[in-house]
Amino acid sequence: KSPHQTVCVCVCVCVWFSWGVGGSAYQTEGAWDQDGEGGPSIWDVFSHIKGKIQQNETGHSSCEGCYKFKDDVSLMKELKLNHYRFSISWPRITPAGIKSDHMNEKGIQHYDELIDTLMESKITPIVTLYHWDPPQVLQEKYFGWQNISVINHFNEFTNLCFEKFGNRIQNVSSLMQSVVVEGYETGEQAPGLRLKGAGAYRAAHHIIKAHAKVWHTYDAQWRGRQKGFMTSLCRGTGESQWTSATRRTSKQLRYFQFNLGWFATPIFHRDYPQVMKYFVGSKSVQQGLGTSRLPTFSSYFADRDVAELVDPRWPDPGPEWLYSVPWGFRRLLNFAKTQYGSPVNYVTGNGVSEKMSCTELCDEWRKPYFQEYINEMLKAIRDGVKVKGYTAWSLLDKFEWDEGYSERFGLHYVDYRSKNKPRHPKASVQFFKHIISSNGFPNQREASNPSVETGSSSNQLLAAAVFTQHVLPVVLRECCRTTHRDLCINLCFVISLI
Ligand SMILES: *[C@@H]1O[C@H](CO)[C@@H](O)[C@H](O)[C@H]1NC(C)=O
Ligand SMILES: *[C@@H]1O[C@H](CO)[C@@H](O)[C@H](O)[C@H]1NC(C)=O
Ligand SMILES: *[C@@H]1O[C@H](CO)[C@@H](O)[C@H](O)[C@H]1NC(C)=O
Repeated sequence: KSPHQTVCVCVCVCVWFSWGVGGSAYQTEGAWDQDGEGGPSIWDVFSHIKGKIQQNETGHSSCEGCYKFKDDVSLMKELKLNHYRFSISWPRITPAGIKSDHMNEKGIQHYDELIDTLMESKITPIVTLYHWDPPQVLQEKYFGWQNISVINHFNEFTNLCFEKFGNRIQNVSSLMQSVVVEGYETGEQAPGLRLKGAGAYRAAHHIIKAHAKVWHTYDAQWRGRQKGFMTSLCRGTGESQWTSATRRTSKQLRYFQFNLGWFATPIFHRDYPQVMKYFVGSKSVQQGLGTSRLPTFSSYFADRDVAELVDPRWPDPGPEWLYSVPWGFRRLLNFAKTQYGSPVNYVTGNGVSEKMSCTELCDEWRKPYFQEYINEMLKAIRDGVKVKGYTAWSLLDKFEWDEGYSERFGLHYVDYRSKNKPRHPKASVQFFKHIISSNGFPNQREASNPSVETGSSSNQLLAAAVFTQHVLPVVLRECCRTTHRDLCINLCFVISLI
């Protein structure tokens, strides 16, 4: 009678993976009213209103990113990044918001140079076309995103970007889940409107439609010549509630739906999440309103713009097994997988800020933050979520919207008081650099023997708590030796032989 025998089979899966950092135009560029630098955005105007921003700060000069971008690309080279994510300022390209009115050659030249510098340094540029800073003129003319006309102007602007930069940009995101609630409901962020109840829903509605329109334009005019397009939905910035080990409740699922689902569900499933329609609808009735404050897509989606966003090959969402995974980042990624038919994900911004104004190497505590989140991402990849890139937020300390300069997200400390705005690497730079060079977490052998050269050939993913009770000592992934930028994932199956 043979005893039970347990055999562990480890398979190495190699997937292409991209490590990067991010930033955005208004938060870093400065150069707001210099000759030829474009027109004001809603943030220029909003930050001028006393009492809106911590210390009444503005983004007028910020990190002087417009002038120091070559230095910043050097910092990226130092990190050995694969990609850099930045946004193009709409008013810097078309100051009046409208293409036919005026096109700012100097603004176009700036982004041309930035893109070229990145490419010379072998860093893939990833462009965000909307990072909350539309031209002020459109705000005044149309009440911003409240008016459907803005969609066409945004489409013109993005089309111009494809024309000018698209030959070098393969990865674009048109939709940055916007601060519509803070901008149109509570008024804490630009444009600072307090349109209680319906304003945020209307703004979001138009932003989603604008994204659809841009996608359609790209598909019809540029996709044949320029390969690749993507969209960014989730904001992974310091959302601590996702890391805490909260118990599963329908309330928390609703939280996801009212955040990610609000923007993502129309894109993947052509309508708002059922739970949003139900809650907004019934609350509107309670408030004595004839119709829901949540707009409907019924007529719009018949126009097929957004319908085309759904790849027919994608399966319908599976069962809600996301309930069974631990809360956190991993759960969010799994949520996207199950809800939207397993799309390819790029983490477009994940980071944490500090309030202190200490210089240089004072952010030891940021390391465990990155470690934990990256670890959860790697677990999600093992769960089968398609994650192809990770963007740490952010390269530099920068203007943090209504928090002014009081919050620092940077891997690099920016000394705003010095005229030249010098950058100093914080401790987390070395940590993130190590993750990039190891293409994940370095394995035990390397950790205990620093003389061993790290490289993608021998990295090991940390954590993997789900497997620990079964896994035999992890083998080196020889199969990944050849492809330099591959992320190695060990999938281990336990087979019981009787
Ligand atoms: C900001 O402006 C408000 C309103 O004018 C004023 O009360 C406040 O003292 C200012 N804060 C600073 C730090 O200047
Ligand atoms: C949108 O803006 C146009 C042009 O200013 C205006 O004619 C129209 O009434 C606006 N629509 C709404 C719903 O406010
Ligand atoms: C960018 O686009 C290219 C071409 O479509 C693709 O191979 C790559 O995976 C995309 N992502 C990144 C982060 O570069």
